[in-house]
Amino acid sequence: MRSSLRTSSAFVVLLTNLVGSVQSSLTTFGTQGVNLLRLPKSPSGGDVRLEVAAAAAPTFPQYNFTQPLDHFVDTGFTFNQRFWVSNRHYKPGGPVVVLDGGETDGEDRLPFLDTGIVDILTSATNGLGVILEHRYYGKSVPVENFTTDSLRCASALLFVFVNHALADSANFMANVKFEGISEDLTAPGTPWIYYGGSYAGARSAHMKVLYPELVFGAIASSGVTFATLKDWQYFDIIRQFAPSDCIQQIEDTIQTVDKYLTASNSTRDTIKSAFGMKNLTNDHDFASLLSSPLGNWQNNNWDPAVGSTGFANFCSALGSPSNNTQVKLSKDVTVSSAVLNYAAYMNRCFGTFDASSYQVYDLSQTWRLWDFQVCTQWGFFSTAPPDPKQPRIVSKLLTLDYATLLCKFAYPPGEHFTVPALPNITAVNSLGGLNIAGDRLAIIDGQGA
Ligand SMILES: *[C@@H]1O[C@H](CO)[C@@H](O)[C@H](O)[C@H]1NC(C)=O
Ligand SMILES: *[C@@H]1O[C@H](CO)[C@@H](O)[C@H](O)[C@H]1NC(C)=O
Ligand SMILES: *[C@@H]1O[C@H](CO)[C@@H](O)[C@H](O)[C@H]1NC(C)=O
Ligand SMILES: *[C@@H]1O[C@H](CO)[C@@H](O)[C@H](O)[C@H]1NC(C)=O
Ligand SMILES: *[C@@H]1O[C@H](CO)[C@@H](O)[C@H](O)[C@H]1NC(C)=O
Ligand SMILES: *[C@@H]1O[C@H](CO)[C@@H](O)[C@H](O)[C@H]1NC(C)=O
Repeated sequence: MRSSLRTSSAFVVLLTNLVGSVQSSLTTFGTQGVNLLRLPKSPSGGDVRLEVAAAAAPTFPQYNFTQPLDHFVDTGFTFNQRFWVSNRHYKPGGPVVVLDGGETDGEDRLPFLDTGIVDILTSATNGLGVILEHRYYGKSVPVENFTTDSLRCASALLFVFVNHALADSANFMANVKFEGISEDLTAPGTPWIYYGGSYAGARSAHMKVLYPELVFGAIASSGVTFATLKDWQYFDIIRQFAPSDCIQQIEDTIQTVDKYLTASNSTRDTIKSAFGMKNLTNDHDFASLLSSPLGNWQNNNWDPAVGSTGFANFCSALGSPSNNTQVKLSKDVTVSSAVLNYAAYMNRCFGTFDASSYQVYDLSQTWRLWDFQVCTQWGFFSTAPPDPKQPRIVSKLLTLDYATLLCKFAYPPGEHFTVPALPNITAVNSLGGLNIAGDRLAIIDGQGA
């Protein structure tokens, strides 16, 4: 299912670095993922075209809409939710097409208003185009820091279906006034088409199910309406569809690494040293780092102007299985050219690694936002396959226990809110999961390759 997240590059990607983009969205690489997210962007080895593409979009006027922090209890607190409007195709009588910004800064979505789906749909319908930023992301931030307590209105209330972020959209649709437009375009008087991709795709479907009176039609593009704890298929799709030579090299490396990591302390130290990570004390962290280049796969795109070459570069660094060189690293450790090449690739990126604290709460720590949603409600932890016989391209050390350590480290219990031991995925799935349906709800998905 997660393969579909890469349907459009702008739904992914915020951070690129030498090892590849570690998606802020939907890929949860465990605790090391947080450190990867903090790495500076590297213009030399990384792939910067995606950012360039976003920066080149023309500007659209930006507005605020006042939202209550809590839709269900009157706390007196409000915040400004940002939105952008394109009226270039609008004619009275046309619908409003709103794109849900999802788990990122709304500015990243502006290309959709200019040349993407919102422009296409509004052009076809004389519609008004809107990008609506999601609470807590970008500048629609209602709090002073990102502690566990401050984040508690970011996700669903754990025991009810309706959540604040969906209620924001409903409130917006029912009450917004657009500058320079005299007609009342609020829902349901005017038809609203709700669009989103990936997490926001799930939100589109959820909006149609929860607010059928307000949402005339909804399009869920690669919507992740089915929440799951272990999302081992995330990597498995890559294994199935990436070039087979490359996958053979990765499988060879991972098998070798797993074997030596667990054989003895000395083989473990030898193999970690080969990757330049002897000082990374936790073997799970090491295993997790090895999976990080795989995150590049979801940045592949049919449009070279916005696609990434990261995965192809990684594969070409791995060489070919036809090279049957074997190198003895120590008396007990012999590795293939695949392992040497993988190690060289990782060595370029990491010497040693500062696995420092997760408990930094200021507003620059935006990695805390989506991960909070993951830890409370969505899951999608990228793990190894549960079946040991299943071929795999990531270490068997990538277990659910390891992946969820992030939740414990990053979100210690607050005074008002405690993150559960495992996310409660029941609420999301009770809205329909894989069988979600609604009138005029379009579910659009792609094939993995
Ligand atoms: C929107 O709200 C922010 C504060 O959240 C403020 O800094 C900004 O000036 C406001 N913009 C407009 C156009 O009112
Ligand atoms: C976070 O912000 C709240 C106020 O919104 C404040 O009471 C709390 O002390 C802050 N916590 C940290 C760790 O900065
Ligand atoms: C999970 O959420 C569902 C639906 O919101 C709720 O009924 C259930 O009690 C929750 N489970 C736990 C363990 O909190
Ligand atoms: C092997 O390494 C572990 C953890 O690093 C350590 O606790 C243990 O004492 C070591 N065993 C030997 C025989 O050195
Ligand atoms: C690894 O750690 C050892 C001591 O713990 C230190 O002497 C050494 O410089 C470290 N290596 C690197 C590459 O940082
Ligand atoms: C085979 O792999 C080794 C180790 O990576 C490398 O040094 C050598 O150049 C490769 N040989 C060929 C023919 O590519």
